[in-house]
Amino acid sequence: MNVSLTSPLDMHLHVRQDSMLRVVAPLSAEHFAGAVIMPNLLPPVDHLERLLWYTEEVRSAVGTATFEPYMTLFFRDYTEQELEAAKPHLLGIKLYPAGATTNSEAGVQHISAMDHVFRIMQDLDIPLLVHGETHGFVMDREREFCEVYKHLATTYPRLRITMEHITTQDSVQLLDRFENLFATVTAHHLVITLDDVVGGLMNPHLFCKPIAKRPEDRDALLQAALAAHPKIMLGSDSAPHPVSSKECPGCAAGVFTAPILLPLLAELFAQHGALDRLQDFVSSNAQRIYRVTPPHKVVTLQDVPMTIPPMYDTVVPMWAGRTLGWSVTAVH
Ligand code: NCD
Ligand code: ZN
Repeated sequence: MNVSLTSPLDMHLHVRQDSMLRVVAPLSAEHFAGAVIMPNLLPPVDHLERLLWYTEEVRSAVGTATFEPYMTLFFRDYTEQELEAAKPHLLGIKLYPAGATTNSEAGVQHISAMDHVFRIMQDLDIPLLVHGETHGFVMDREREFCEVYKHLATTYPRLRITMEHITTQDSVQLLDRFENLFATVTAHHLVITLDDVVGGLMNPHLFCKPIAKRPEDRDALLQAALAAHPKIMLGSDSAPHPVSSKECPGCAAGVFTAPILLPLLAELFAQHGALDRLQDFVSSNAQRIYRVTPPHKVVTLQDVPMTIPPMYDTVVPMWAGRTLGWSVTAVH
């Protein structure tokens, strides 16, 4: 069995900077034609000069690979002039509630105080990407944030809003209620639940924000992805941390999946007889939603086993040591 995917896209990716960037960016560029690059560096990517610098850093890290970095700015109180100038260089603006996740301390304290920025973004047609978690109880954060999504979607009906890395049944249902809401879904949230993180021996390499939820949540996400729900796109949220920050007290949040994404998804979609829907999930939906035309790249996967390496430099990938039933066998 095999499947060929045209221009796969990862619509939510952390590639970091410096030596980590040079290790992880080529791994994404090998299998993907492009990716949405998250801006949560320290300090964040929150002005044009830094955005242009970071774009060049990513391009230089991927070298000659066919790969388009779709850049994002870190949400703050921008002026119209700033956003007009930045617009040609970005895909959207990523909003983090302050303190919600890794490197988000500079995020938004009060979303309600940012109306003028949302209005400018709507007028300039700049998409809003959101880390949708409140500061409530960890399992309820995403569900509670649905109220914010409803408010934004109704107040700014022409603003395209992406609910990033959704993990609950409620979020999937919300998508169908508002025309201007879209969502990314990670690969790991299609296959794990909270049990895999802390139900047995604790697995730090599966600890991320938002935390994996209940089996019925995972199943709702999986059904939507397998059905090629037209408003859902792959956004891996692959978030590498050095092993020293994962296997320690105060484990950093983030699952590193970049090098195993397409084999994992091919195996999963094949198991469910849905290989013909994978193209929509990994590229076509995103192209339509974001109106982007990525560079042409055809990635062929076959049911040839792949054993996941224990480490990529200092980073432990999800499911290290496990053998997947599928692998990438050609890239053109
Ligand atoms: C991400 C990271 O490490 O940058 N961590 C995570 O658990 N997903 C940040 C994020 O997207 O929340
Ligand atoms: Zn992320």
